[in-house]
This record gives sequence, structure tokens and C-alpha cells, in this order.
Amino acid sequence: MQKFIENLPKAELHLHIEGTFEPELLFKIAQRNNIKLKYGSVEELRKAYSFNCLQDFLDIYYQGAGVLMTEQDFYDLTYSYLTKCAEQNVRHTEIMFDPQTHTERGIAFETIINGISKAVEAAKQNLNVSALLIMSYLRHLSEEAAFKTLEQSIPFKEKITAVGLDSSEKGNPPSKFKNVFEASIKEGYIPVAHAGEEGDAGYIWEALDILKIKRIDHGNNCLQDEALIQEIIKRDLALTVCPLSNTALQVVKDLKDHSLKKMIDLGLKTTINSDDPAYFGGQVNQNYIDTQKALNLTKEELYQLAKNSFQYSFLSDSNKNTFIKELDEYYLKNK
Ligand code: HPA
Ligand code: ZN
Repeated sequence: MQKFIENLPKAELHLHIEGTFEPELLFKIAQRNNIKLKYGSVEELRKAYSFNCLQDFLDIYYQGAGVLMTEQDFYDLTYSYLTKCAEQNVRHTEIMFDPQTHTERGIAFETIINGISKAVEAAKQNLNVSALLIMSYLRHLSEEAAFKTLEQSIPFKEKITAVGLDSSEKGNPPSKFKNVFEASIKEGYIPVAHAGEEGDAGYIWEALDILKIKRIDHGNNCLQDEALIQEIIKRDLALTVCPLSNTALQVVKDLKDHSLKKMIDLGLKTTINSDDPAYFGGQVNQNYIDTQKALNLTKEELYQLAKNSFQYSFLSDSNKNTFIKELDEYYLKNK
């Protein structure tokens, strides 16, 4: 089963680039930028990765991201993640980045986007990994601040496919960002949002009806509401589920209690993703492996999850079909 998963062609649809920042690289970049960290060593930093909730994690995640200063830093971070994609048979990835985490510290939007997108270009050439970008607004900040970010992004809009919404969910409902999502859609960005990770089903309804999202990040709490489940199915929206993130942030107590299998059985379109792999104890393949074991997923279910990851990506139909063909050939040989 492990070999089957490792070699399975797949896409990753829920991944924060700042969440791929491994302590080793973080220390290296901090050093070259002359930034002194609160933690004395890689081991000490890793030990701090124990969380009771989303906010615990966010506090440490924003600290880590605070050492990124130059275009080269953003390039190195992104290229390092894309190398891991190639090793895991992740054929395509949709990378979220949080501009405001950096522009608030005085880093230019241009520095961030150029570093990330040059790494994406290089990975296409050297690693045969495809990637696109999702610019995420921080929901703990104001809608006005999100508007400023939207404006800053316009000169670079051909490099960005979608907009997202992340950070502290509770108390920051999707409706807070109604106008900036409307404006983002007008600029041609595809809307997605984190919803129903810690927030209740009402937050998912708002993301659907007010932000008009085309994919739901997490979405676990849709199971609280039968009508919502049916609406998600009717609109053919996929959920980007992140099992090891859910256990790390105590959204789910134990992987054995994870509702992914129930979601699949209900007819919801789901995918498996790593969210913030440097912080949550596993890359995307580890998420597949641990979830398969905990929920006894069959090869057919794993194949369907991988197929969804291409089907519900924001690639063109022709690119989707190329990847799905590759997946189908693999599955036929290895099922
Ligand atoms: N939820 C909300 N915000 C985030 C996350 C998450 O899982 N990861 C990075 N920012
Ligand atoms: Zn996330």
C-alpha cells in the first residue's frame, strides 16, 4: 500500500508555502539575514511544534515566516517544496501564499511574487512539476487591508490564478470579505476560502453564497448540516481535506475518528493535502499513508482521491486530462 501511494500520480490543492518552511532552512535563511531567533537550535524549534488549536499554530507560523526577506529567500523556500513534490509524484500543486504576512513587515509585493514564481518556472523546467498560485488574504486583518493587497497584485495578475482566505477563522466570517472577493472575481481570480475548520457550518454557507467559492479548504464542519452537504454536492465543489493538520490542531482527536471516509461515502468530492507540512508532521504522501491505515481506505478510494485532486484543480481541461490519463495507466497496472 505504501509503495502504491508513493508512486501514485497526484496533485496537492491545499498547501501554504510559508507552512513548508523546515527548521533547517529557516535557520539557514535567518542566519544569512542576520536575524536572531528565539530558539537556539533546530531541535528546540521543532519541540515548539505542539498545538492545542489553530491560533497556537498561527503564532509560531508567522514568527517563522518573519525571517523571509529577499527574493532569493522566497525562491529557496518554494523550490525546496517543489523538490519534495517531485520526490512524491505530486505532478501538480496549487500553492497558497500570504502576501500580507510579508508586506506588513515592509517586504515589497514584487519581492514575494517574483521569488515564488521564478521557482515555479524553474520547477516546470527541471523537475517536471506543474504549479499555480493562490494569493490568500489574512482574515484576522481588515477587508480594507485585503483590498490593498488586491491592488498590489494587479501588475502581477497573470502569475496568480486564485484568491484564498486563511488565518484565524473564528470571529472572522467570510462575510467580512464580501466586497474584496467580488472585486477579486472581477479581476479574473478564482475564489476559494478556508471554511469549517474551526468555524461552524454557517461559515461554509457564507463562503458558498457570499464569496462564491469554487473549492472549500478543509470544510470538515459541513457534516453538521445535511442541507449544506446536499448543496456542496449539487454545486460540485471539492473539499481540500488535510488529515494530519486536523490532528495536529486538534480539529480531530485521532486519525481513526477522521470523517474523510464518511465524506466519501456521502458522495462529497474530497482530496488529501498537507496544509503546512513542516509543522504538522508529514508531507502529502504521509497524509495519504496514515489516513489509509487509520480508515482502511482501499486502492480504489485512493485512486479516486488522486483523480479528484486533478479533476478539481484549476488546470485547463486538457491539462487535467493529461494527468488523469497518466493516473489511469498507473492504476490499471497497479490495482
Ligand atoms: N488554517 C487557517 N490558516 C492557515 C492555515 C490553516 O490550516 N494554514 C496556514 N494558515
Ligand atoms: Zn490551510
